Amino acid sequence: MTPSRPQLRPRSNESRVAIVGLGYVGLSTAACLATKFHVTGIDLDRDKVRLVGQGIAPFREERLSPLLRKNINNGTLSCTTSFGVISVADFVFIAVGTPSSKSGEIDLTQVRSAAQSIGEAIATSQKHPVVIIKSTVIPGTSKTLVPILEKYSGKACGEGFGVCSNPEFLREGQAVQDTLKPSRIVIGPVDEFSRQRILSFYRRFYGKQMPQVVDTSPETAEMIKYASNAFLATKISFINLIARLCEKIPGSDVNDVAKGMGLDPRIGPLFLQAGPGFGGSCFPKDVQALVRYAKTEGIDTSLLESTLAINETQPENVATQAEKMLGGLEGKSIAVLGLAFNPNTDDVRESRAIPLIRKLVDGGATVGAYDPMAMEGAKKELGSIITYSSDAKECVKGSDLVIIMTAWDEFRKLDSEDLTRLMGGKPRVLDARRIYSPEKFANADFSATGLGTPRV
Ligand SMILES: NC(=O)c1ccc[n+]([C@@H]2O[C@H](COP(=O)([O-])OP(=O)(O)OC[C@H]3O[C@@H](n4cnc5c(N)ncnc54)[C@H](O)[C@@H]3O)[C@@H](O)[C@H]2O)c1
Repeated sequence: MTPSRPQLRPRSNESRVAIVGLGYVGLSTAACLATKFHVTGIDLDRDKVRLVGQGIAPFREERLSPLLRKNINNGTLSCTTSFGVISVADFVFIAVGTPSSKSGEIDLTQVRSAAQSIGEAIATSQKHPVVIIKSTVIPGTSKTLVPILEKYSGKACGEGFGVCSNPEFLREGQAVQDTLKPSRIVIGPVDEFSRQRILSFYRRFYGKQMPQVVDTSPETAEMIKYASNAFLATKISFINLIARLCEKIPGSDVNDVAKGMGLDPRIGPLFLQAGPGFGGSCFPKDVQALVRYAKTEGIDTSLLESTLAINETQPENVATQAEKMLGGLEGKSIAVLGLAFNPNTDDVRESRAIPLIRKLVDGGATVGAYDPMAMEGAKKELGSIITYSSDAKECVKGSDLVIIMTAWDEFRKLDSEDLTRLMGGKPRVLDARRIYSPEKFANADFSATGLGTPRV
């Protein structure tokens, strides 16, 4: 497939950027960088390339579509399935997927395949491109790509091209904002030339807004990404463990516990929100990959395994709470509000709503669900085992219990009166995300993650 639009001829001193992999990371990065540079996105998925070429984002991400349209229309962003454009690129970002293999370890097939294609294209390059690894990879991986790039380009790293680890920390749902204003830039250059080039590239992009840079070894840069995700995931599982305890202690509330803890500057308030657990394409697979990697090094991984185990059983905990509220699941009608793993995204990968719904259905309940963005993704996962509503109120209508699984603003607007009317009596609400104040539902049969109100 040829590029979606003819490329503008860049001025001689202008950098050309190629981004391999147009998923959440690659496409958000491409759209943002195209505000300053000429960017070509490369993906093997023809449908994705076609859509992006028309200025349409293939997934929901705030601010992404208008940015894409603008840059496609003004010619600074194009996309293709062909790697040929890399032969004129100054910077080549690898942003392909790094999923878990069946055994939980990182699957580097996409990264290695991308490196081979990039190497082949660099063979005919007149430039000295820097290959930048944005995909999340186990420490040591960036260096293992060097022999692949050298083999297929016929050039030596540091002479014909450079390599630099540059992990990504953006959050889905805020990917554009996070790319434009990252908390930090972490670089781990394999060669000295790449260090200077990537620093000057980011200085040109961010100007006076240049974020703090952590300039380190490739292995350390790769580890910073895993350590960050593992730490955040552990913080979530920690507060969920405390939430389980609070549920057993009449009068206690994990939200106040988290508030009291978070005011301690050594702890901080973020990621201390109790809920049904963490999901998405990163935390579960990255913690899993770190566990597998640590095991191969003979390191005890019980801390991280507990993080995963608490997370794995958290949907079960929500299902048990639902069962208690209903006096059994058999024949009950349950409305699940929220299917995406987080608000402001359509991504259902590892969403905790999916295993929860399976448990409810296995227990004999009839489940109806609604999500403002993630209906299509959820249908692919759950098919016809549940029904799908076109809005929250329709979903709740006539149900025996409402469970909040994603903290969408839209759901915050529902109040006790709405639910009484729609559910035809005293509403039963299980707030797994803690979006409601219990006082607001004083007239309801209300339960929530980490809320120790005694149930009779
Ligand atoms: N999603 C996030 O929030 C996030 C945040 C930080 C880091 N990361 C990491 O960034 C990487 C990408 O994540 P994502 O969520 O954007 O992935 P994704 O699955 O959404 O997208 C990956 C894209 O790469 C394409 N691809 C696969 N192999 C290819 C190849 N050889 N050549 C060209 N294209 C190819 C796929 O078609 C797909 O469009 C992963 O390593 C992930 O762990 C993700």
